[in-house]
Amino acid sequence: MDTIGLYRTTIGKKAVMAVTGAVLLLYVVAHMLGNLTIFSGADAIDGYGRWLREIGAIWPTRVALLGAVALHFVAAYQLTARARKARGRYEHRRRVQGSYAARTMRWGGVIIGLFVVYHLLDLTVGWLNPHGVSGEIHANVVADFQHWYVVLAYTVAVLALGFHIRHGLWSATQTLGVTTSRVIGLGAAVLICAGFLSVPFAVFTGLVS
Ligand code: HEM
Repeated sequence: MDTIGLYRTTIGKKAVMAVTGAVLLLYVVAHMLGNLTIFSGADAIDGYGRWLREIGAIWPTRVALLGAVALHFVAAYQLTARARKARGRYEHRRRVQGSYAARTMRWGGVIIGLFVVYHLLDLTVGWLNPHGVSGEIHANVVADFQHWYVVLAYTVAVLALGFHIRHGLWSATQTLGVTTSRVIGLGAAVLICAGFLSVPFAVFTGLVS
């Protein structure tokens, strides 16, 4: 079977979900760890951002992320449409088994997508940031999280990401037959949420200023 033929199968689409999900998860973990450099001071995080630019990591990462997000979205959409069609007229009840997880993933995905647009306008472009100076990462982040509503928006998005990762990782590792898939999903989600949320709460409480 060729690549296109494989992609047409449900297994092929699920494999695309898993591989693109893994790419996105890798980025999320790297980004979360990079953010933690803020605890070493302004020079550390601003220098880290400068270094990423100097080694030319920015644009290849953007292209890979965009490709991964597009494929992840299209495969998810097609799998949902296929499952709905398969249930067809035999399915009269809306609340079928597994639909809670499916709905959580779909709405979680929408929240994360909307957040990324806001986040880019806030901390990458700077238009929605109270400081908004390119390259001054520490100052931009500190200016942001003085405001409870910005902390709240980031908290909601990070929790949505946590639920998404928990279910996605559980589902993917279970498919591979891993017996500890529940622990892996929950553990990774908790660590990632804690890492991301430590920054807004450290700024809001004055620990980082
Ligand atoms: C509290 C949580 C977060 C903080 C403090 C934070 C901080 C930042 C900062 C400072 C930048 C701009 C870096 C620069 O100017 O070079 C950035 C960019 C970015 N962040 Fe976050 N971020 C957070 C959460 C997230 C999450 C949860 C996601 C993904 C779901 C994410 C995805 C991105 C992306 C895609 C970029 C653009 C990178 C680029 O310029 O290509 N961030 N973030």
